[in-house]
Amino acid sequence: MKILLVGSGGREHALALGLQADPECTELHCAPGNPGIATFATIHPVAITDNQALVDLAKQLAVDLVVIGPEVPLVNGVADLLRAAGIATFGPSKAAAQLEGSKDFAKGVMRDAGVPTARSFTCTTESEINEALDSFGAPYVVKDDGLAAGKGVVVTQERTEAFEHAMSCKRVVIEEFLDGPEISLFGISDGRNILPMQPAQDFKRALDGDLGPNTGGMGAYSPLPWAPDDIMDETYEKVLAPMIAEMAARGTPFVGLLYAGLALTDHGIRVIEFNTRFGDPETQVLIPLLKTPLAQLLYKAATDSLDDVALEWESGSAVTVVLAAPGYPQSPKINGAITAIPEIEGAQIFHAGTSLAPHGLVSSGGRVLTVTGSGADLTEARDRAYRAISQIQLEGSFFRSDIAFNASVAEKGN
Ligand code: AMP
Ligand code: GLY
Repeated sequence: MKILLVGSGGREHALALGLQADPECTELHCAPGNPGIATFATIHPVAITDNQALVDLAKQLAVDLVVIGPEVPLVNGVADLLRAAGIATFGPSKAAAQLEGSKDFAKGVMRDAGVPTARSFTCTTESEINEALDSFGAPYVVKDDGLAAGKGVVVTQERTEAFEHAMSCKRVVIEEFLDGPEISLFGISDGRNILPMQPAQDFKRALDGDLGPNTGGMGAYSPLPWAPDDIMDETYEKVLAPMIAEMAARGTPFVGLLYAGLALTDHGIRVIEFNTRFGDPETQVLIPLLKTPLAQLLYKAATDSLDDVALEWESGSAVTVVLAAPGYPQSPKINGAITAIPEIEGAQIFHAGTSLAPHGLVSSGGRVLTVTGSGADLTEARDRAYRAISQIQLEGSFFRSDIAFNASVAEKGN
């Protein structure tokens, strides 16, 4: 099977390794890829925003499968163009990607499917905004309706801040605050079936102790020793299956990865948000733990053939820690030389924001590398991830030191 993977981050590096490890994958291409992926796949300098160039590349390479990593090409409708060209594609249509592209759309589907989520109002005027803010009270949760590259959500005690963010959005969803631990639970769907993956937890704040600004994610781990045993079954029954059924009933079946961000509240699970692609950095822990051959799995999803497929998992744990550039997330400094990348048994290093300069590897984004440790339990996995990341040299770079720490303590107590 010849495969084209679209994207260039740590998520894509992990997916590329998973695809490559499947014996069915005979040729792996990536657009645009990164220097890590380039060590074992062929990379092509095509922008993820150029739909036509991506379709042309897939045709020219005569690939059997295209796997789309990031949300932007999905919301731009590249999957529709690829399917129209007769190419099996893992990733939702433009219509189905609206589950990520519009929070108001996602709320409407959840309402029709009976999926539990925060009560909300969608507002476009000042008076609607004031009414919604006062009806819920603090803490205020204010979400830009559209894609906002991680900057769309404000959760605050300050009414003025909530109001100002709401007024800066064209359309805004204001909702009830959900209290409880958050998890990420992904499902792989062929449009009719959906297979839940084991849950992961990511760490969104920049600094230890969940302090500092929101980021794209500073680390993740899986499995979750503290989560209820039936969390996958419950999420399948209450969230994933009804969403897939509702999208199919609307004539816009969802084919690809449905990412449910969930809050485990005292009243049960509630959906915080959906994404329509693999999460980053959760993918960097889930793919190393997934035993099911990835190329065949994603091909079956793309060709409506997931009946009778069950996911298989390694018994151990994985922890991933992000190495961020100085100044991330506000104003990351790039072009720093990355002078040492260690080789540690049980640790994998994924490139997220790097590029190859004449004098060697340099940083090219805010999240530079993601380091995943694998082991028998979270303690061993953490130890390997931190041993590897602390040996990477990039001036001014930083990482959180508490990824999966509480969970590893809880695991010991079990
Ligand atoms: P997002 O940018 O959509 O990933 O949201 C960022 C973060 O905002 C989430 O991970 C939650 O921590 C928080 N958040 C979003 N919606 C709610 C809510 N209704 N209640 C509490 N926290 C929320
Ligand atoms: N881990 C958060 C995201 O991928 O959006």
